[in-house]
Amino acid sequence: MAQIFDRSSNSLARISLVLSGIIVISLGVTLNYLQRSPWVTRQGQRADQPVPFSHRHHVQGLGLQCQYCHTSVEKSSYAGIPPTKTCINCHAQIWTNADLLAPVRNSWATGQSVVWTKVHDLPDYVYFNHSVHVNKGIGCSSCHGRVDEMPLMYQENTLQMEWCLNCHRNPAKNLRPTSQIYQMAWQGPSSSAPVWCASKDVPGVPTAQTVNCTLKDPASNGAQLAALEIPSLAGTYQVATASAGSGAVSLPAAAALHYTKFTDQDALGKYLIVQYHIRPPHELTSCDTCHR
Ligand code: HEC
Ligand code: HEC
Ligand code: HEC
Ligand code: HEC
Ligand code: HEC
Repeated sequence: MAQIFDRSSNSLARISLVLSGIIVISLGVTLNYLQRSPWVTRQGQRADQPVPFSHRHHVQGLGLQCQYCHTSVEKSSYAGIPPTKTCINCHAQIWTNADLLAPVRNSWATGQSVVWTKVHDLPDYVYFNHSVHVNKGIGCSSCHGRVDEMPLMYQENTLQMEWCLNCHRNPAKNLRPTSQIYQMAWQGPSSSAPVWCASKDVPGVPTAQTVNCTLKDPASNGAQLAALEIPSLAGTYQVATASAGSGAVSLPAAAALHYTKFTDQDALGKYLIVQYHIRPPHELTSCDTCHR
């Protein structure tokens, strides 16, 4: 058969192939870059809100707890946004005439909720649950940053899949005692700020609530806690009748708590992985954990 194209068109074709290859790659790189840019992820942006509500003022300034307003965070998948009633508890008396609060007063008068703009918003095909994270030792600040220092709310992290997976592959580095969940300034244990943990010997399946962690040396907790250091287990204390003090748990007099002292996050994380029954990374990174 006669040759339809001459040899020069052959190299032209090769060049255009290479060129379109370069174009496709650079398009991919640009899209990938755009997809990760704060412009798309909304990381760090302050949303327009009907009322310029300040977490810094209400949390750091007034000492309000997160649960006061985000009441369902430990019990359900949603943390929840407070109803107008929560604001009115105080603002019926404080700043009653401030223009800034007009939308709150209108909402109270008409019964129509204040329409807050969502700052964090995962796509619908992703399953997320607050209560699981919070009850398994992931604090608010690990995902939301220093909310207590935010005059206006913004999204600290990308909330992209890679960010979730990064923690799911190695949760140990972020685990803290559940008693420290709301502690915005939590930084993990160190030799100058150790953490002591003991597992309560409660019958039945152990849960995060059966682990007792404290930032104060249980051995120095006075005579009630007749502490006894066991030389063979460095850093481990045997404490008899630990129900003294807090009164939160009343254990039988014979029960003993074996406190272990932690001075670094790695060791504490590994301990909590066992105590809190954290699933292994291959389960936490499997697609159907988040895409159901
Ligand atoms: C006095 C009530 C109040 C307290 C206390 C409070 N919040 Fe909020 N929070 C709000 C309101 C109102 C909004 C919605 C407006 C906004 O985004 O700023 C909000 C929004 C948020 C959001 C963003 C929600 C979204 O749209 O994605 C996060 C995250 C959050 N709060 C975390 C916390 C944490 C963590 C604490 C404790 C350190 C806390 N809040 C304490 C009232 C409160
Ligand atoms: C526990 C009481 C309390 C609650 C609950 C409360 N506030 Fe306040 N709020 C205050 C006080 C106190 C001030 C500060 C007045 C001052 O010192 O300037 C304030 C100030 C404000 C201001 C003025 C700007 C600023 O931050 O200084 C806004 C806006 C505001 N609050 C909105 C809200 C909204 C919206 C809610 C409900 C989600 C709410 N507050 C719930 C006590 C409260
Ligand atoms: C493991 C990460 C993680 C932790 C820990 C976490 N959050 Fe969130 N939070 C998120 C994500 C992701 C969203 C967006 C959820 C969505 O769009 O469905 C969110 C949304 C919110 C919202 C908006 C309303 C809602 O329920 O969707 C509030 C308020 C909030 N978080 C408060 C808190 C508070 C308070 C704590 C600590 C007690 C906390 N969060 C702990 C990741 C986390
Ligand atoms: C800072 C660490 C951390 C981050 C960030 C994080 N997670 Fe988790 N996640 C955990 C831990 C710890 C568990 C509990 C594991 C267990 O119980 O075995 C968990 C469990 C889960 C579960 C299992 C819940 C169930 O009921 O089976 C889902 C779903 C989940 N995470 C989704 C997400 C999504 C989606 C994101 C990102 C938007 C995310 N997580 C970000 C630490 C994290
Ligand atoms: C820990 C939770 C988690 C796990 C596990 C997970 N994903 Fe995702 N995935 C997400 C989140 C969050 C998003 C949304 C990302 C965004 O909004 O940018 C997402 C988005 C996606 C998307 C949309 C495109 C994109 O990248 O934004 C695809 C496709 C996807 N996931 C596939 C998978 C597959 C396949 C697996 C198993 C190998 C998997 N995911 C495991 C959390 C998870």
